[in-house]
Amino acid sequence: MNDQPGYLDGPLAYHTQELYRPDEEKMFEYTSLVARRFLDTLSEAMVLDLCSGTGLSIERLACHPAVSCATGIEIDPGYVSFASDRLLGAYPNLTFRLGDALDPPVPRNSWDIVVLSSAYHHVRNENKAQLLEAASSAVKGAGLVIIAENIIPRHRPKVLEEYSSAIKAFYVAVLSSMMDRFDAIPQSVRTTIQRIVRYGEDGEFEYKVASRCAS
Ligand SMILES: C[S@@+](CC[C@H](N)C(=O)[O-])C[C@H]1O[C@@H](n2cnc3c(N)ncnc32)[C@H](O)[C@@H]1O
Repeated sequence: MNDQPGYLDGPLAYHTQELYRPDEEKMFEYTSLVARRFLDTLSEAMVLDLCSGTGLSIERLACHPAVSCATGIEIDPGYVSFASDRLLGAYPNLTFRLGDALDPPVPRNSWDIVVLSSAYHHVRNENKAQLLEAASSAVKGAGLVIIAENIIPRHRPKVLEEYSSAIKAFYVAVLSSMMDRFDAIPQSVRTTIQRIVRYGEDGEFEYKVASRCAS
């Protein structure tokens, strides 16, 4: 269970910085490419997004003609309201529900696609297996679980200085890709990113992973 108060300064700050993130855009595009290839083979498909945030990932799937039901599960009521205000008018098949992705309030063994997009790193390391278990019990036997993640450079497990350096290196690369893409990046967006870096360094809110930890 996420026992912490709201993430960042709320959904607007998060959503705005996402719009300046080429790395996240690539992640959404690739997630939706994989999902769409699968959805093209289905009809009346059900799609579940665990840790749905402002709806950036699920909006790219709810618009697919095969999707009859798209549901986002989100623990922060502010994010549920923000995503609902932003998207429900456009997608009648979409709903956002308040709930914990570790024990989502949805039927089991029922979803054609379950998406975890920047979700895994929001769950404490000791709860990550439970998140994967929740996704695997929600998806149908022939369904697809898509995990889209920020992957930081390798570091030794439980060595905080190495974890912090890996977080910094990751966001230096993110900022550089943003500066390549945009002529100007608002100070508010930079401030949001600095705060995310601090979450990483403090071990609060975010528990990012490398593809394989150095030994
Ligand atoms: C980085 S955002 C990603 C949002 C969205 N999936 C995306 O890709 O844009 C992570 C979201 O997970 C939510 N969250 C964190 N822990 C959660 C939990 N246990 N259950 C449901 N949502 C959670 C946070 O409130 C935040 O909105």
